[in-house]
Amino acid sequence: MPAPRTVLLTGAAGGLGTLMRDLLPAYGYDLRLLDLRPVEGAPDAIVADLADKDAVREAVRGVDAIIHLAGISLEAPFEKILKANIEGTYHLYEAAHAEGVGRIVFASSNHAVGYTPRPQGADPLIPIDTPRRPDTFYGLSKSFGEDLAQFYWDKHGLETVSVRIGSCFPEPTSVRMLSLWMSPADGARLLHAALTAEQVGHTVVYGSSANTRLWWDLTSARALGYDPQDDSEPYAEKLIAEQGELQEGNEGHAYLGGQFVTDPPIWPY
Ligand SMILES: NC(=O)c1ccc[n+]([C@@H]2O[C@H](COP(=O)([O-])OP(=O)(O)OC[C@H]3O[C@@H](n4cnc5c(N)ncnc54)[C@H](O)[C@@H]3O)[C@@H](O)[C@H]2O)c1
Repeated sequence: MPAPRTVLLTGAAGGLGTLMRDLLPAYGYDLRLLDLRPVEGAPDAIVADLADKDAVREAVRGVDAIIHLAGISLEAPFEKILKANIEGTYHLYEAAHAEGVGRIVFASSNHAVGYTPRPQGADPLIPIDTPRRPDTFYGLSKSFGEDLAQFYWDKHGLETVSVRIGSCFPEPTSVRMLSLWMSPADGARLLHAALTAEQVGHTVVYGSSANTRLWWDLTSARALGYDPQDDSEPYAEKLIAEQGELQEGNEGHAYLGGQFVTDPPIWPY
């Protein structure tokens, strides 16, 4: 596949979309933006709901690749998740297939494997082929998205890199995040690698920086050419002093999905 230039960024008004809008143009991409909400500072952004098949089809027309971030990013009633994350992602894949788009980078999540016990002590890193164990309807929709990606590759030759993102924020804000943090700069590095690696078929990777306290195996991400430069460790002392170490026997600390297992934050809209 020739290196993509024009890339549709869905979810461009969101937290990650905003960070990536700033960072990805430096890699030479010409971004077309889409979100349900207007995108601040981007009057040309497409304001559309993924539920609108025709609008989605028009939005993907002529792009070389898609970074799919749009959707509900917290827990919500199943009916809402079904519409935004499951049907919405299906509409995007159908449109991409119909318009001949070659590759999608899909924002999956650690919550697709959220019920995986977190490694402790000398436990090995969580491998990428660990069974999916969603911790919420939200995580279930990401698990569906990964299956959808596999199906469109097997059936139609549409390539996807599914990135099980840890926590991509300017700084880690919890002790759990010390293990899952992906700096925005590493996020852009990973998306660039996912867009440009040769012959990915459907590849699933974990998305985080090279954290000292890493819980998962970045081998499949590195195989795409991803070379993370950041580590959450400089934030560790302060966060542990404020919040304490993760506790054995605390259910919210026992699994990869953290608080989503016990008390998930709810989508406010
Ligand atoms: N930020 C992270 O650390 C993180 C971690 C794991 C996974 N992810 C995934 O990455 C993506 C982006 O995360 P985020 O933190 O920026 O989330 P966010 O909630 O800030 O942004 C999501 C965006 O999607 C838009 N959206 C929602 N439903 C839509 C619809 N039906 N049609 C069009 N647009 C719609 C929202 O308006 C919002 O701007 C999400 O898919 C999320 O599940 C993010």
